[in-house]
Amino acid sequence: MKDMTPPQLDQSRVRQSFRRGLQSYHRTASVQADIAARLADLLQAQGAPGQFETALEFGCGTGHLTRQLVQRFEIGSLLLNDLVPEAASALQEFGGAAPVQARFKAGPVESLPLPHGLDLIASASTVQWIPDLPALTARLAARLKPGGWLALSGFGRGQFRELSALGSAAAAPSYLDAAEWRPVLPQCLDLLAVRQAPVVLEFDSALALLRHLRQTGVNGHAQQSWSRRHLRDFEDAYRARFGCDGKLPLTYDPVLLVARRTA
Ligand SMILES: C[S@@+](CC[C@H](N)C(=O)[O-])C[C@H]1O[C@@H](n2cnc3c(N)ncnc32)[C@H](O)[C@@H]1O
Repeated sequence: MKDMTPPQLDQSRVRQSFRRGLQSYHRTASVQADIAARLADLLQAQGAPGQFETALEFGCGTGHLTRQLVQRFEIGSLLLNDLVPEAASALQEFGGAAPVQARFKAGPVESLPLPHGLDLIASASTVQWIPDLPALTARLAARLKPGGWLALSGFGRGQFRELSALGSAAAAPSYLDAAEWRPVLPQCLDLLAVRQAPVVLEFDSALALLRHLRQTGVNGHAQQSWSRRHLRDFEDAYRARFGCDGKLPLTYDPVLLVARRTA
């Protein structure tokens, strides 16, 4: 396994970046919307029951996964969480993803007081922001009932590979490939399925690509201001190295998994 030392993360910057992008996130984050649907598909395909008494979704954002979960499963009591407190109103605003039986608690999931005996813990496109994943998964597993389900998606090491190759600091701290997940999970979790398949978006210009990153909030670690000169140099370097038929590709590298607590 590659170096797993948790890197330093400025969580207030991540919060600020997602808070600022919250309004535009829902319509811009088409890749994340697809991932949420695929994660719910995977959970069903692994034989999850149609009903869960108690469930937690962390990093719910504007509710892409929330909507998938409540449409496909009957959930008695649903706790929703996000680092950004304003996600609570965004959940309502974007088509009322949160059902009446849902409660929302803001804060980092790593330290949020969590109920015990959960039947399902789910999260899409969020774990890449958690520096210490072994600690988080151990904490989550301890909150699951025996037989309880864990459905997660993050991103692999190919995430935004073009940006890292060009020296950008936009990377989140925990990109893990499919094969790296088993050692990160505690022994009491049975890894039922893990999937990794890249998705490439194309942009006409560096400005459009940067705007996409800003609107989705996924560049929580990146530099915030660009001079005209810097932007031009960046676009030239990007085109020279990755440009294809006049377009600039941007690789997303989603990794999805479903696990179950054994004992
Ligand atoms: C890319 S969005 C994904 C949102 C939603 N799950 C989806 O699939 O569209 C990542 C979300 O994780 C939240 N987040 C980041 N770090 C977090 C943490 N430590 N605890 C809880 N939420 C966190 C961000 O505020 C953001 O809303």
